[in-house]
Amino acid sequence: MQLYMAPMEGLTVHTYRNVFDAYYGGADKLFTPFIAAEGSHKMKKREICDVTPENNKGLNVVPQIISNDASNFIRFARIIKEMGYEEVNLNLGCPSGTVVSKGKGSGFLGKKKQLDEFLHCIFSELTDINVSVKTRLGLKAPGEIEGLIAIFNRYPIYELIIHPRVREEYYNGKPHIEEFIFAMGASVNPVCYNGDINTSDDYDRIIQACGRELPVMAGRGLIRNPSLFNIIRSGKNAMTDKDTLRRFHDAVYSEYRCTMPGERVVILKMKEIWRYMIDLFEGNAEYARLLKKSHILTDYNIFVNRLFRECELKPE
Ligand SMILES: Cc1cc2nc3c(=O)[nH]c(=O)nc-3n(C[C@H](O)[C@H](O)[C@H](O)COP(=O)(O)O)c2cc1C
Repeated sequence: MQLYMAPMEGLTVHTYRNVFDAYYGGADKLFTPFIAAEGSHKMKKREICDVTPENNKGLNVVPQIISNDASNFIRFARIIKEMGYEEVNLNLGCPSGTVVSKGKGSGFLGKKKQLDEFLHCIFSELTDINVSVKTRLGLKAPGEIEGLIAIFNRYPIYELIIHPRVREEYYNGKPHIEEFIFAMGASVNPVCYNGDINTSDDYDRIIQACGRELPVMAGRGLIRNPSLFNIIRSGKNAMTDKDTLRRFHDAVYSEYRCTMPGERVVILKMKEIWRYMIDLFEGNAEYARLLKKSHILTDYNIFVNRLFRECELKPE
């Protein structure tokens, strides 16, 4: 069983990854949020801080790069290789308007000729680091995956992670499982599934639909319940434990308070986590309102104390 933590901008940063690993663990790979390789830019301080091995000790981290320029991708991949990494990931999935309008992320999927040339270039040059790819099914229609797989099959992609939605769907609606199964069968490169794995039943359903075990990546489901991988691995014998969750929360919170500039930023960052994690709690609507109104740490602390004291976790 291979389970991966998905890259999530603003969420799966090194502080979160480290606390996650200390309290839960169970991720075979942890992908960093994307680093934009652009123009003559150097890697930003914040990005270096996120990928530097010093801040990722004992974790199997895969740095992710977003770019549609082969020389920039190669330049950043080499910096990552020099840091000691064996794998770098190419983002072909980001659906955000600003990224897509520049022909990057899932925007690159609509420019097949340029994508082919880009892949040709990076795979010719980068012979000493494994390059994996995280993609969607296409820009507009799930059937686009057929032409994309034909391109991907020309290159030794270390692992092809497929989120079976198209760009226009962002993260809404249901993943297109049939198209994923087609892609899995047609790909000569190893494939990983990503999308809507929130419970161990979701995991079982995907493995059953695929007819064999394959690596699975989880994003929102893992932020919602950081014990998700332990539950999947234990065959549902593990329960989400409220005390551990509280200690995990407190550790993330404490890290953010030490490393972020001011309480407003800390609260914003904690709210991003709670956007998913609050769903674990029974009767959370009233508490979600309390969280929304928390603009200073005193209010935030009241929210956390009340939620953990007054709400039980939902049975999964
Ligand atoms: C807030 C947010 C930030 C994300 N940031 C990234 C990113 O930096 N790189 C990337 O490849 N995907 C990113 N994604 C997509 C996730 O990695 C994942 O593909 C998506 O959430 C679907 O998987 P899930 O259903 O398990 O969450 C992001 C998604 C969300 C919701």
